[in-house]
Amino acid sequence: MDIGYLIREHLTSPVQAQQFETLFTIGNGYVGVRGLLEEDSAHPTFDSTRVHGLFNLAEGDLSPDLAPAPHWLGLTLEFDGYRFGYENGRVLGLERELDVRSASLTRRVLWQSPAGDVVRLTFERFASTADEHVLALRVSGRVLHGAPRVRVCGGIETRVSLPSGYNHWQPWKTGSIEPDAIWARSQTTQSGYTLAMAAALVTDLDAVPSLLADGAHPQVEFGAALDEGQTFTVTKLVTLFTSRDSADPLVDAQAALSRARQAGYDALYAAHCERWGRLWADSDVVLEGDPFLQQALRFCIYHVLIAAPQHDDQVSIGAKTLSGAGYRGHVFWDTELFMVPLLTLTQPQLARNLLMYRYHRLPGARAKARANGYEGAMFPWESADTGDEVTPQWTLPDASGKRIRIWTGELEQHVTSDIAYAIAQYWQWTGDDVFMRDYGAEIVLDGARFWASRVEWNAAEGRYEIRNVIGPDEYHEDVDNSVFTNAMARWHLQTAQQVWAWLNERHPERAATLGRELSIDQVALDRWQDVIDRIYLPFDPERRIHIQYDNFFDLKPVDVLAYQPRVASLQSVFGYEATRHLRIIKQADVVMLMALLGAQVGDRDVRLNNWETYYPLCDHGSSLSPAVHAWVAARLGKLDLARELFEHAAEIDLRDNKGNSRDGIHGAACGGLWQALAFGFAGLHLTAEGPAIDPHLPAGWDRLQFSVRYRGERYTVTVEGGEARIERSQP
Ligand code: BGC
Repeated sequence: MDIGYLIREHLTSPVQAQQFETLFTIGNGYVGVRGLLEEDSAHPTFDSTRVHGLFNLAEGDLSPDLAPAPHWLGLTLEFDGYRFGYENGRVLGLERELDVRSASLTRRVLWQSPAGDVVRLTFERFASTADEHVLALRVSGRVLHGAPRVRVCGGIETRVSLPSGYNHWQPWKTGSIEPDAIWARSQTTQSGYTLAMAAALVTDLDAVPSLLADGAHPQVEFGAALDEGQTFTVTKLVTLFTSRDSADPLVDAQAALSRARQAGYDALYAAHCERWGRLWADSDVVLEGDPFLQQALRFCIYHVLIAAPQHDDQVSIGAKTLSGAGYRGHVFWDTELFMVPLLTLTQPQLARNLLMYRYHRLPGARAKARANGYEGAMFPWESADTGDEVTPQWTLPDASGKRIRIWTGELEQHVTSDIAYAIAQYWQWTGDDVFMRDYGAEIVLDGARFWASRVEWNAAEGRYEIRNVIGPDEYHEDVDNSVFTNAMARWHLQTAQQVWAWLNERHPERAATLGRELSIDQVALDRWQDVIDRIYLPFDPERRIHIQYDNFFDLKPVDVLAYQPRVASLQSVFGYEATRHLRIIKQADVVMLMALLGAQVGDRDVRLNNWETYYPLCDHGSSLSPAVHAWVAARLGKLDLARELFEHAAEIDLRDNKGNSRDGIHGAACGGLWQALAFGFAGLHLTAEGPAIDPHLPAGWDRLQFSVRYRGERYTVTVEGGEARIERSQP
């Protein structure tokens, strides 16, 4: 077993238990299951199971949330009446590890009951990637000392709630199928999605199962006498359907359960592993010379893969994936600019699903533009199932009851260009003209219409401006002429021109249809060109730097680097209001622009000047920041710094260095890490001849190897011993 695929638990405090619940999430692109223990635990835990797309606005809440699915992991084991658990008896040995290669979680415990019996228990679980409606867990036991009677009990716990405490479900209906199988079904209170779950408890023990009737928590139980040396297994098979994927979720859950039972745990697991073998064949990265970074890369790739919908193009990945309650499952620019590129280059079909989610949400984006007096498509800063803006307008009250107004839903508008960027990148790498013709072009063109209507003409200066926005640096709200926003709007309009020209040349009928539907005529095209020519990109010609936004340098200077090391953001140190007036940047902003547009931003001197200006001001208060800085630092040849920032990015969840991993995986940081490696250190880029590299690796990285797909073919990048190559490879 290659150690680089294993993540081991190392608990030193109960708080870390929640961090590891997040880290040890399993999933299959349909459902995510946090790493809660099977037995009841004394530590506070959140809900365990989230399903893509099940958004609901609970009564009294401010914004939709992902409704928590029932907790299906519970399994009680009693030995002569003593319940297995860390708080009872003695734990003589314990290890828990996530194997990202097989997307499975295993725990081995050597436990002595208060009566002195000693058992060895091995727990395993996975969420099937071969059949995404199947979840499975198994415990294998061996009695090492004593001959206790075992009692086993497991069911479906429907009394789950999010940390916010709101109820998302109508009263659950539950029942039994056979003496060892049960089900539960309900509907979300506002959105009306139905979810049904069925579960069976199967054992090789000579035991007669019976049902424990508890409406909210149907359970199966059985008991058996054990001999010293005896082994046994208990398997819990669970199936899950929703009205998003089934006309009758309960009927389908029951049918799938009976199929899963026939197949059995081993066959289900083998099919799951086979599929994961194929996923890794395309997405693995080998980095020799730094075991921690090797592990972190695989961990991050794993978390993006388990969150990416495989068969559904109506859902997308939330900022915290399906691994925690943070950000209510909402979809941000995190998906398109941080996670999608990894998929575009290694699993293009999964990237396509995510881009299609935005296509299906065009009506919401158009409604937002209209409501704000603009044309075209203005995508929401936070998106859920309907495509409407769902950013909550207020934070939850703090200890003193104070709430803060959240402005990003109104003002953080660059997401529309970010989506266009992901589409253009997907098109370039895959050559998927059908996608571009039928879907992508419409998003890019309607987004361009938004920008052309959004800009404001400043007659005094003779230029177009974009006022009242929030750029990536969210510490400064309601700013004018964020250079990131303006430059990306300009890039978006230029890209729209290219897409429009291509469409007219290659697919004139589609161009005619879109031209009619989106009112793209000569007047509109002239306007795009005029905005491209005369949009203001704040720049200081003397210092040869971009200016993050108008008046940025009037902010009070702070020696940001003097506040190291820390976990808390400087916004939480200085307070929300004070930070607005300080020259502290939350995350890569001008630096983000340099990552995306590279030399288009300016010559090498300008980029170096920008770096020297903005890097020292950044407090990385967002987890999106370190990887992007690593990427740009690597391109600028600042390898020691790049490596340090890369390590910072790699530690975000594995070492909880933002202090909030319990709320869920930082999906953008995961995708960003891969991009920092591929586009930063390896210098991967496209030329007219295809993919090319320009690698610069820090000292000690002995070997780097990964593959990407370009227009249906696989290319493998290898950097080792001072040599570097990219070659077309099989299959
Ligand atoms: C960051 C945003 C990000 C959001 C969700 C915020 O803290 O500033 O850029 O989209 O978190 O991850």
